[in-house]
Amino acid sequence: MSFSGIILDWYHQNKRSLPWRKSLDPYKIWLSEIILQQTRVAQGAPYYLRFVEQFPTVHHMANASEEEVLKLWQGLGYYSRARNLHATAKIVVNQYNGEFPDTYNELLKLKGVGDYTASAISSICFNEPQAVVDGNVYRVLSRYFGIDIPINSAEGIKYFKSLAEKVMDVNDIRDYNQGIMEFGAIQCSPKKPLCLHCPLNESCVALQKGIVGQLPVKLKKTKVRNRFFNYIIPIYIDADGNRFTNLQQRKGKGIWQNLWEFPLIESNSMLEIEDVDNRYKQLFEGNGEIELIEFNEVAIIHKLSHQHLHTKFWILNTNTEIPNQISFEKIKNFPVPVLIADFIKAFKF
Ligand code: ADE
Repeated sequence: MSFSGIILDWYHQNKRSLPWRKSLDPYKIWLSEIILQQTRVAQGAPYYLRFVEQFPTVHHMANASEEEVLKLWQGLGYYSRARNLHATAKIVVNQYNGEFPDTYNELLKLKGVGDYTASAISSICFNEPQAVVDGNVYRVLSRYFGIDIPINSAEGIKYFKSLAEKVMDVNDIRDYNQGIMEFGAIQCSPKKPLCLHCPLNESCVALQKGIVGQLPVKLKKTKVRNRFFNYIIPIYIDADGNRFTNLQQRKGKGIWQNLWEFPLIESNSMLEIEDVDNRYKQLFEGNGEIELIEFNEVAIIHKLSHQHLHTKFWILNTNTEIPNQISFEKIKNFPVPVLIADFIKAFKF
């Protein structure tokens, strides 16, 4: 049997029942594929279900605020995907009359929709013969055909796309594309692939050569950048015992654009209490008495794809009102990065 025939057979016997597989609605497929670019199926499914509950159609999402979309996305990371999600929902409603485009070429014009997503939507929803190439597909193809061209090089991207097109099944592209991704996720997994019971094991080049664990090849990532974050958590308790703090919205093009965080002092190395004591006044006008407490003695290292954020939280108790203060109860309504959400949990706001 052909490669694609074996993948299809395997898929029909092993496919998981996943919430988005019950639908061919391009809105739902688009949503699930964007979420799955960010996380694995097990973690992504609850996000998908919360999204479709709150925004059952593209109109609901388009009518929501960006903050609501960011809030639902919270925890998945890489927030530009969430902003693109919202922007695309508005484009579909305003420029496409609420109907997703039904071809690969037209889908590519949407924000945040690249070759992978356009291929997935056009093939799954509209049966267009477009080969998907995601991390799973790279792994399956590089191992089965024994290809060691780096998958993140210009040459590799071109090579694997063309190989994927050569081996796909154009007559059942919907199941074939989902099948090869599912096969990569379950059978030909990164760490412990199930080669012993694999339907492709008699013709898999990597298995024959004993190099399954070495494929796919990836070029080393750029060096990580170390950053030093000092979050100041001002706390004011009024005469009635109501507690207040402050959050600020992150602007600019860098990480966490438009998310909220506590007032931040970024420094070139980790600060000591005296440094923070001298510098917090940059952030507040407050002229009352203050007490500064180091919340975590050992810096938390929060790892992003290209940055390590060495982070300390400093509690600043004050007996005067805080400019733009926010009551403790309202804090959970703000979309915040995971680093801040974890602190909010630990501090028991
Ligand atoms: N990973 C991302 N999208 C997928 C899909 N549609 N089927 C299987 N695995 C996937």
